[in-house]
Amino acid sequence: MFDRVLITSGPTVEPIDPVRYISNRSSGKTGFHIANEAKKRNISEIIFITGPTCYLPSEVRCIKVETAMEMRARVFENIENVSVVIMVAAVSDYKTPTYFPHKIKKNSEKMTLELEKNPDILLEIGIKKKDNQILVGFAAETENIFENGKRKLAEKNMDLLVLNEISKSNPGFNVDTNEVYFLTPGEIKKLPRMNKSDIAVNVWDKIFDIARDKKIYERQF
Ligand code: C5P
Repeated sequence: MFDRVLITSGPTVEPIDPVRYISNRSSGKTGFHIANEAKKRNISEIIFITGPTCYLPSEVRCIKVETAMEMRARVFENIENVSVVIMVAAVSDYKTPTYFPHKIKKNSEKMTLELEKNPDILLEIGIKKKDNQILVGFAAETENIFENGKRKLAEKNMDLLVLNEISKSNPGFNVDTNEVYFLTPGEIKKLPRMNKSDIAVNVWDKIFDIARDKKIYERQF
């Protein structure tokens, strides 16, 4: 049904100086399974844009990036005629405004690092979304998960938000299983704990349901 899909995956890495960086615990496993499941569904073109990870799907065009700014540039270079965008990447919310060209010395007891916000790629895509495009995001929350999830779904104009609560019993990052909720406009559905490969199957099933509901049929893009 879909000719061209774009998937982002992994963390982004924001350099501070030649040896240090800001990043997060994303392993890239979920994005990897989402891409592999797309292959099984005979989608002709899968564009996979990923931060540093060892989980790279085979036989898929992989575009490797480091920073959120690079991810943003590659996403907008490749988004033309894409029918489904799945933003699995854990994009770093903040970056340093200046890169220190030399290793910062530990000369004082305390130091303050200034950070500035990265652009929100999904928000930008959501603003420009066309009627025949499907936009999927992922979010990990530790508190007020449904309130935050519903706000993000609406703000970023998503068709589906895959939401998980990060807790001791469900760490989410760097493990093989996850317990997630599917948030769509007007509905919250809890999925039982399952392998990330099975979450990918459910995500694609849901995307195909959304396409049918939106009456997105063959090769409209
Ligand atoms: O707001 P939050 O970071 O929780 O939203 C998560 C979703 O937004 C993910 O799909 C992520 O890929 C995307 N995102 C983004 N650009 C950012 C931050 C998050 O595209 N700067």
